[in-house]
Amino acid sequence: MDTVSPGSGAHDAERRVPKHVAIIMDGNGRWAKQRNRARTWGHREGVKSVRAVVEESVQRGVGTLTLFAFSSENWRRPPSEVSVLMDLFMITLRGEVRRLDENGVRLRVIGERTAFSEKLQRRIDEAEGLTAHNTALNLQVAANYGGRWDITQAVRRVVADVAADRLDPAAVNEQAIAARLSFADLPDPDLLIRTGGEKRISNFILWQSAYAELYFTELLWPEFNATAYGLALDDFAHRQRRFGLTGEQVVSESGVDRHE
Ligand code: IPE
Ligand code: IPE
Ligand code: MG
Repeated sequence: MDTVSPGSGAHDAERRVPKHVAIIMDGNGRWAKQRNRARTWGHREGVKSVRAVVEESVQRGVGTLTLFAFSSENWRRPPSEVSVLMDLFMITLRGEVRRLDENGVRLRVIGERTAFSEKLQRRIDEAEGLTAHNTALNLQVAANYGGRWDITQAVRRVVADVAADRLDPAAVNEQAIAARLSFADLPDPDLLIRTGGEKRISNFILWQSAYAELYFTELLWPEFNATAYGLALDDFAHRQRRFGLTGEQVVSESGVDRHE
């Protein structure tokens, strides 16, 4: 009964590349602490993992990659750590944007950006503008992002449209809300990875990950490299996504594993 495994052929599994991968990049502080260094050293090292995952995503044809870099709750950390994270964001944007552009990466920042300094906001605008024409990978960096914030701002826009008579209150359905969320133009994440061993969402993309496959690894973010990412993608390729259907329905609809 439980032998249904669509796409058991190796080629089929290889072909099943997620269109959208989202990653909660966790464990920088612990990685540094294990080495008797300041937590912020872990954040700096984590940039290398970002580079590896971005490049591997381009190689493998993952269309969209969303990285959780700073949550709306991370402002509550010690000011010195927040300040290093902001500086690092700035430096990384400046240092990486050309390379991103060369790799065909389109960068977008999602989250409440008005909380950032004017200078950082300008730099974000410039990086987005410079890479806007690229098509190899949509890279989204979630900064001052919270899943609840996202739903709240979408609802606020729904209410504004209703108040301005652009939207009939009776027409407010899931699509109306989804259309006003961050990255409404992109597919929902297929695969959500969290490094660092914790098994929670920590207010990341709540609505959009309703049907994401979850993948947790004990590896701390600075340890996560192209090989580790490949393992997560391979794991995803062997999952059966049912979206509420039965396994048998999924198999018959996909036309694979027809043998009984
Ligand atoms: C993730 O690593 C990066 C951010 C949240 C900015 P952490 O800084 O949370 O590292 P740990 O979880 O404390 O090890
Ligand atoms: C989630 O990590 C946020 C990012 C990775 C940016 P946290 O370290 O903030 O999550 P909690 O506090 O352990 O849930
Ligand atoms: Mg953490």
